[in-house]
Amino acid sequence: MSRIADRITSSARKNYGMYAKAARLENRNGLVHMELGQPAHDTPEHIKAATIAAITAGHVHYSELSGIGPLREALAHKLRTVNGIHATPADIVVTNGLTHGSFAAFFAVVNPNDEVILLDPMYPQHIGKIELAGGRVVTAPLDEARGFSIQADWIEAKVTARTKAIVLVNPSNPTGRVYRREELEGLASVAIRHDLMVIADEVYEYNVYGGKHISIASLPGMAERTISLYAFTKSHAMDGWRLGYATAAPDVLNAMLKITANDVTHVNTFAQYGALAAVTGDPAVLQHMVEDERFKRDFLVEALNRMPGVLCAPPEGTIYAFPNIRGTGLDSQTLADQLLGAARVVVESGAFYGAGGEGYLRICFGSQTLPGIEEAVRRLDCFFNGRIHRITSDKRPASL
Ligand SMILES: Cc1ncc(COP(=O)(O)O)c(C=O)c1O
Repeated sequence: MSRIADRITSSARKNYGMYAKAARLENRNGLVHMELGQPAHDTPEHIKAATIAAITAGHVHYSELSGIGPLREALAHKLRTVNGIHATPADIVVTNGLTHGSFAAFFAVVNPNDEVILLDPMYPQHIGKIELAGGRVVTAPLDEARGFSIQADWIEAKVTARTKAIVLVNPSNPTGRVYRREELEGLASVAIRHDLMVIADEVYEYNVYGGKHISIASLPGMAERTISLYAFTKSHAMDGWRLGYATAAPDVLNAMLKITANDVTHVNTFAQYGALAAVTGDPAVLQHMVEDERFKRDFLVEALNRMPGVLCAPPEGTIYAFPNIRGTGLDSQTLADQLLGAARVVVESGAFYGAGGEGYLRICFGSQTLPGIEEAVRRLDCFFNGRIHRITSDKRPASL
């Protein structure tokens, strides 16, 4: 008998892609990291100050399982006014980042052998959670020629008697698409017709440069079948804080609470006061960070479009550029490896995001300051213009 549970041995290990490859390099000095979605900004001061004040005030004990009351109160107000979701504090659970919220969501709704549809290119870290819950991932394609927009009929073609849910990452990591109302309505009608849940990952809701982010749960008939997931990670540069929240219909939220209360009891109490400051604080702070990202996006996209073999549409949201690199004649993993080894710039291969990501790179402008991006662009420019020699396979470091 195996000592390890089947759910572990039968599912893939979490894959950190080019981040893990870069970490294995012997010489890591001077690498420009643009692979991880780790914000370059520091967490705003008022959030840190509120957290320190909470510790000083003695908020160091257990809190309510679903999160401190004032935070859920503020989040309910935000969900109503920003997202158009009619939530009360009782409809919310505070989670350890979006990752924890999505884990609870998948475990709350997925039975063994249920199918969950992901749009490809996709955020791959949802896969492991679905598989741990016993589910199977089914992908529906997106197409760059259509701006990576939702094609409801392509999704519907993947629905079977075992389909339980559709995952929607909006704005989309990695494509940068901010889905239009008509697209969301198309997806909603598939979900309603086939009685499916939608798990909406809206971690980039504030990282929007064009168009308007719309929460699918705000559409008619969708609140009862959507689990909406949020986090302070990207918008407020709070990735290390591990703070997010989820809202869903009462029966689903109770199911999620059964999971979160068992796995972590609740989220760190004084960190929740930091989150409270983030939701109730001056929105200008948030706006300033988003405008900085917009500037870096424009700079990077313009530079990429000058490079031979590279075509990059400006992402409407997120903190990633997703350039088409087919014109280079290299597959995306080979190109990412070459850029790491020869140009010392770490970017993610599009293939990391599913079969639909082949032919693309994902480059995170949010993870660098402007000088860091300028340095990356200088190196990429040299590489794509042949002024840095590509590594031939015999000279390639063993770790690549
Ligand atoms: C689409 C998406 N969902 C979830 C996460 C994870 O968020 P968190 O760090 O809040 O768990 C990320 C992080 O990159 C992401 O891109």
